[in-house]
Amino acid sequence: MGSAFIKYILAKYPDWQIVNLDKLTYAGNLENLAEVENNKNYYFLKGDIAKREDVEKAIGEGVDKIINYAAETHVDRSILEPDAFVKTDILGTYTLLEAVKKYNVAQYIQISTDEVFGSIDSGKFNEESPFQPNSPYSASKAGADLLCRAYFKTFNLPVIITHSCNFLGSNQYPEKLIPLLITNLLEGKNIPIYGDGSQTREWIFTEDHCRAIEKIMERGEPGEVYNIGTGEEKKNLETAKFILQELGFGEDKIEFVKDRPGHDQRYAIDSGKLRKLGWQPEISFDEALRRTIKWYQENKVWWQRLKSGEYLEYYKKQYGK
Ligand code: TYD
Repeated sequence: MGSAFIKYILAKYPDWQIVNLDKLTYAGNLENLAEVENNKNYYFLKGDIAKREDVEKAIGEGVDKIINYAAETHVDRSILEPDAFVKTDILGTYTLLEAVKKYNVAQYIQISTDEVFGSIDSGKFNEESPFQPNSPYSASKAGADLLCRAYFKTFNLPVIITHSCNFLGSNQYPEKLIPLLITNLLEGKNIPIYGDGSQTREWIFTEDHCRAIEKIMERGEPGEVYNIGTGEEKKNLETAKFILQELGFGEDKIEFVKDRPGHDQRYAIDSGKLRKLGWQPEISFDEALRRTIKWYQENKVWWQRLKSGEYLEYYKKQYGK
């Protein structure tokens, strides 16, 4: 997501200068930004948001906005190894907020998730819904979001919090549902569906999310919270069947596997507040999924490398195979 946003902004605002502070963990990949590497307004700095020296180096002579895309985000990993989630998501946000305070940064936008609200059987969460996170990942993000709120209330920092539904698009690490399913099928493998596949997720295409953050940068108010959603809700099994059909496979490729512990049944958010600022999604789920499938078909080298080595170890640990 962070790399997509950088490319979006550099293309649209050629005079803006962007500093990308990235720890380059397993999910970070400089290749995603190869096309802007030589742009004179783009600076890359390898570093950790949880380290004050790294953050201060990135802020350097003056940064007027910080958008915190940096996070550990994969729920299954947070169940196996929560440590990095607490460090990056909570301590990292704290370190950034302290820097916003020290350097008088004019705007801080926290990229967060609808998962902080927990699961909802009917209706939708709004910006005032209580936090009821169910995984170490969502609990870490909830903790970070609460720090953001506190830094607005206590220190009057210009902090805006955003809660987004699930992303789909290019360059997503193939451990998340959609890229995992697409790449497994392109490799001729089965596709793992947790439990009975009845869980529901709301999906947004990367570019629509970039446009939402752009709108919030322009019109969002300090201290406010904005949900970023599309209303495009799909059961995991529906998503799987769509991908199977697009790639010409039958349902025999579906393998129902052990369910995720604490698995949230449904996420759904009301994004009316953001829509009042003049944003709405432009790409339908079907179109987004077709574009995403095409990208993975055309970029096999990119994901094949990621699906070897460390990734396989993780996958084996998860499924015992
Ligand atoms: P995921 O992409 O991990 O996002 P999140 O858990 O943050 O919503 O998972 C999306 C949904 O797909 C979730 O209900 C879990 C399910 N899922 C599977 O059924 N199989 C898989 O292999 C993965 C990775 C996820």
